[in-house]
Amino acid sequence: MALFYQHNINEYTKLGIWFIEEPESFFLEKVPVKREVTHPFKRLQHLAGRYLLSYLFPDFPLEEIRIADTRKPFLENEQFHFSISHCGNYAAAIVSTDNRVGVDIEQISPRIERVAPKFLGEEEASFFNDDYTLFLDQWGMRGRVFQEFLTMIWSAKEAIYKWYGLGELDFRRHMQLKGNIAIQGDWIGIPFLFDKTHPVPLSVVGRFFEEPELTLAWVCT
Ligand SMILES: CC(C)(COP(=O)(O)OP(=O)(O)OC[C@H]1O[C@@H](n2cnc3c(N)ncnc32)[C@H](O)[C@@H]1OP(=O)(O)O)[C@@H](O)C(=O)NCCC(=O)NCCS
Repeated sequence: MALFYQHNINEYTKLGIWFIEEPESFFLEKVPVKREVTHPFKRLQHLAGRYLLSYLFPDFPLEEIRIADTRKPFLENEQFHFSISHCGNYAAAIVSTDNRVGVDIEQISPRIERVAPKFLGEEEASFFNDDYTLFLDQWGMRGRVFQEFLTMIWSAKEAIYKWYGLGELDFRRHMQLKGNIAIQGDWIGIPFLFDKTHPVPLSVVGRFFEEPELTLAWVCT
């Protein structure tokens, strides 16, 4: 068994990260195959994500999962809301009996600096160019810290995308970092304004893992 991390957010909502070290046959004992995933490693990630749903809530009806046109997996009767993410050998899932949820995990890498203009709005980009980042420059710290925070924002926006579930979102326009980031112990509270049809304040919760270097972000509301 390779549960890497579990956090019970409240009595209705649980989150977990699985370290994938088992063969496909292990997951297939529990997970019914509904969608043919041809690439073997992607299939393993897919199976591990599904497995984790039933690990968190043993009565999760895996065989009833449907896939929407947007590719969001869901249960018709909404007995559980859930969201899945994979990254390398890790699969994450969040499951709630009460709230809509979204989760994302990402590996921290320098590549994020090249992608950032695609998901940062103008105001957000200016936040990352202010005195704070110049201060980090002086100490030669900017590169890594910058990449960590950019990855966290990217992860947060992917979690919001999954929470919303209906697709067709512009990451620069429809979700904007708004307000102060709050750090409490290992957790980071990241306030967003989600505005697809009308403004909705959303609090994304994130945390960094050091070994492996991962960001985790989730929405539950
Ligand atoms: C769907 C998407 C969020 C998946 O993210 P990813 O980092 O590629 O992959 P992850 O492993 O984190 O997530 C994959 C899981 O997301 C879930 N998913 C897929 N589409 C989804 C949707 N529309 N809503 C909610 N969840 C979805 C699935 O559970 C999938 O895993 P599964 O197929 O094994 O069940 C991503 O591919 C995407 O389309 N993002 C939006 C693209 C975009 O608009 N980018 C513009 C900014 S640069």
